Amino acid sequence: MRQPQFRMPKVVGHRGAAAHAPENTLAGFRAAKALGVQWVEFDVHLTADGRCVVIHDDLIDRTTDGTGEVGRMTLAELASYDAGSWFDPRFAGETVPTLEEVIDLLAELELGANVELKPSPGAEDATAAAVMALLRQAWPGHLPAPLVSSFDYRSLEVAHDAAPEIARGLLLETVGDDWLELARGIEATTIHCGHTPLTAARAKEIRRGGYPLFCYTVNHAGRAEELFGWGVSGVFTDAPDQILSLAQARFD
Ligand code: G3P
Ligand code: MG
Repeated sequence: MRQPQFRMPKVVGHRGAAAHAPENTLAGFRAAKALGVQWVEFDVHLTADGRCVVIHDDLIDRTTDGTGEVGRMTLAELASYDAGSWFDPRFAGETVPTLEEVIDLLAELELGANVELKPSPGAEDATAAAVMALLRQAWPGHLPAPLVSSFDYRSLEVAHDAAPEIARGLLLETVGDDWLELARGIEATTIHCGHTPLTAARAKEIRRGGYPLFCYTVNHAGRAEELFGWGVSGVFTDAPDQILSLAQARFD
């Protein structure tokens, strides 16, 4: 199979720019753009009525003024809650956006994206299938091709089968000895992992295996510098302002 297109940069805004604006909201993606990132990462769930929505948790309680499970509510109900005030009153009126709304905004802002599949338990196949269908149908031609990742291996298998031409990132909290087997099983283009448990030796092994490695969530320039020194290709950060100038000085 032809290698999927992929050109994710060194600094990716995590959930938009989660230190600056409510995560996974349109305001958050605008904030990320204003800070200078070229790509953002965000998380996608499925509602009870089959709509792809951009939210991290299975529950809406932490990031909205409502309560309940995303997977058990309709889009109409979900959209009735405020997803900005919990972060700061000046973001009142933000809602949990649909994936379609986010794609439209990315097109306007010319932002690339790592789309993380975050299925509610039991909705792995349906979430991956719905997201991949939407990306195939609605991803703007003028943006760099998206990169899809997930902690959920089943979701990555479904993504692979549904849209093999869209690049996949194998997302792991900790990279274990089975990483290469897992990566090959879904024809991964990249490996993504938590930066805390990563060792220099493991980073080197992944690089030697030919896989770009991306780490989350790196909010301090000193740590980003160390990871870049280990050959890490890029970092997800809540605070792009802390990392961008370092990356530019080092790589531009
Ligand atoms: O995709 C990188 C990172 O977002 C994974 O962790 O929990 O923030 O989605 P989480
Ligand atoms: Mg994520």
